[in-house]
Amino acid sequence: MRKKIVAGNWKMNKTLPEAIELTKEIKSNIEGKENSDVVVVLAPPSINLSAVSHELNEMTGVHAAAQNCSEHASGAYTGEVSTEMIKSTGAEFVIIGHSERREYFGESNELLAQKTDAVLESGLSPIYCCGEVLEERKSGEYASVIASQVDKGLFHLSAEAIKNVVIAYEPVWAIGTGETASPEQAQEVHQLIRKQLAGKYGDEVAASVSILYGGSVKPANAKELFAQEDIDGGLIGGASLKAADFSAIIDSF
Ligand code: PGA
Repeated sequence: MRKKIVAGNWKMNKTLPEAIELTKEIKSNIEGKENSDVVVVLAPPSINLSAVSHELNEMTGVHAAAQNCSEHASGAYTGEVSTEMIKSTGAEFVIIGHSERREYFGESNELLAQKTDAVLESGLSPIYCCGEVLEERKSGEYASVIASQVDKGLFHLSAEAIKNVVIAYEPVWAIGTGETASPEQAQEVHQLIRKQLAGKYGDEVAASVSILYGGSVKPANAKELFAQEDIDGGLIGGASLKAADFSAIIDSF
């Protein structure tokens, strides 16, 4: 069966001591719940990835993630971070195509397909983000926008490769706005994505891919969202910066 995942995207927050402190708090909230089948992922800014990984010290069920990576393996790309560098910190996941990367850094589906390849080639798992903006939700275009993001970013992959991909549906209008997609709205899109996966790779592969919901997930709404059949967890922004809230979201399964 597919994994349940709760991933915290810290975005551009937390200095080194703050990142270590937050990791320690989250760790101590999780410790003693070793039976939990929820995979926890912490995505600090890349400069603190190594420290967070070190702090996790290969703790079972908790992994570090990068928020972005270069599509290139190495070389003269000032300011960039490669997937091998990410891997060498002990991190196991890389968030790819977050809407802030798409919007503020002009990342296209084509570029994200290359980044996804780089992540998989290093033996890491991409958390591939997709989601519509408000106008696309209102005009009803959202289904085709998301289908195109999934198709262009991921459907060049083999069935074996896509099993290592996690997909995150994050409606842009719900990110950091306090406005969450209703469980029904989220479930509708998750089911569409899973159907799309089934159409391309078959039912068995589609059933094995975890699809996370992101966009103003908090302790008060996580339970209802995670109860939906095709919602396998969350990608959490704001609420992942407070250990108590993040831990309550993990406990919402
Ligand atoms: P949010 O962010 O939880 O603060 O809405 C989610 C995300 O951007 O991944």
